[in-house]
Amino acid sequence: MELPHPLFEGSISVRVASLLGIAFILYLIATTLYKRFRGRDEVPLPPGPTGYPLIGSLPDLLSRLKTSTQHLLFNEWARQYGEIYKVNLGFVTQYMVNTDVAAKAIFEGKNASISANRPRWIVSSEYICHDWNVLLINGDTPRWKHQRRVTTTQVGSVPSADAGVPHLEYESLKFLYEVTTNTATQLENRAIWRGVMRYTYSALTSQLFGLDIPTNDSQAIGYIHETGAAQIVATLPGSYLVDLVPVLELLPTALKPWARAGNKRFARDLQWCLERKQRLEIRLKAEGSDPGAESMMAKLLADEKNLGFETKEEGAYFCLMLTIGAADTSQISTWSFIEAMLRYPDVQRKAQVIIDEAVGDRVPVWSDYKRIPYIRSLLKETWRWRPPVALGHPHLLTADVEYNGHRIPAGARVHLNSWAIQRDPARHADPESFIPERYEGDLTTVAQSINSGDVTKRDHFAFGAGRRICPG
Ligand code: HEM
Repeated sequence: MELPHPLFEGSISVRVASLLGIAFILYLIATTLYKRFRGRDEVPLPPGPTGYPLIGSLPDLLSRLKTSTQHLLFNEWARQYGEIYKVNLGFVTQYMVNTDVAAKAIFEGKNASISANRPRWIVSSEYICHDWNVLLINGDTPRWKHQRRVTTTQVGSVPSADAGVPHLEYESLKFLYEVTTNTATQLENRAIWRGVMRYTYSALTSQLFGLDIPTNDSQAIGYIHETGAAQIVATLPGSYLVDLVPVLELLPTALKPWARAGNKRFARDLQWCLERKQRLEIRLKAEGSDPGAESMMAKLLADEKNLGFETKEEGAYFCLMLTIGAADTSQISTWSFIEAMLRYPDVQRKAQVIIDEAVGDRVPVWSDYKRIPYIRSLLKETWRWRPPVALGHPHLLTADVEYNGHRIPAGARVHLNSWAIQRDPARHADPESFIPERYEGDLTTVAQSINSGDVTKRDHFAFGAGRRICPG
């Protein structure tokens, strides 16, 4: 006996109504999809290297990573594909923004809030940093807004930056003294690099933890550096499978080695910060003035409301995150400056003569800066020539963005390719050469230049763009 299909059970009219209903739903789905895909056809995605099936340009990138020259490859593609291009790297697709005008259109103005999020980094942000690192969390969260505010008030505003000047002057002088007088380490690459690390970390830990790092063999140097590197490496596509296949997060903890390792690292780093909090607490209780009394940690200890952090633990951990963000980039800038001075001795000589004329026979200090515009040009050129974050930190789009006939889809990772923008021949003649004179007459501070209306006149993009621009 033939059994009736459940769908066709009942009277003819019910059957017809069911069929019509299904047809109607199918019609709706088909028209929606059609409109969507036709719309998509009308606004194409940006061009980009084709690469291999499935893995795209991943092999090209991996071979450049071996020699740390990936920024040169991304620059070559910028010259080939123009303002925006798309690179398929297997599981991840990156969109690179390669001109000043495109950067403004995509990261600022009406698209500022659309481009203010970060990709999801399960290992780096969620486990290693417990979602407490302003650099890695989403721009629409209250924690991000609060941590940005604290960065500005504690270090980034003009008064707080001014309060940090004595630390910077002390640490940089100490570094210069070492480099010029210590014959054992003089002109030895690794020793100089270690000195650069010490002085930049120490300038920041003094302001944030209220504790300095007095010697180049201090264990704190390696600790902070390793912690920062682990966080950044974990954000790179391919470092952890779970970031490419997030469904793996559904596994029980016993089957998630990344979760165990990440939690362990977070606990270790938090403990490191809490030990320093305790050290400062003990020192502040002792009689007499203390150089750490003006630090962020001292303010955190004194404030019943924890400077707005949920707990004092979060505030203490934040001091480490800010030390890393601020010092690692400053180290690269110092190193690039040394490279420029060695490669361009004429520039070095000219700068020295200008400084000597301005300050005479004494060490220049921060308050001399405004009187020596050539040094401002020299700094701007250092950040143009060697932007420390050469390929930008990825932003994630929360909606489609259209620019100049191309569409970058919602969910895309967008990178500000500062290396390529700062080598755009339309912006800078002879971009590979270190020429501070190209900034002659530009007396703007970094912030003034960023806020000036004409993006083609912006000095450089070393500090990023849009809502996630460096607050330091
Ligand atoms: C030479 C020095 C520095 C350079 C080149 C630099 C560069 C950058 C860049 C490129 C970003 C990412 C921007 C983006 O996503 O578009 C960034 C983010 C950040 N920087 Fe800096 N930075 C420097 C110094 C500092 C200092 C001194 C501080 C703090 C006192 C600081 C704190 C931060 C923070 C907290 C973020 C995360 C912002 C966010 O994601 O919302 N940086 N920096």
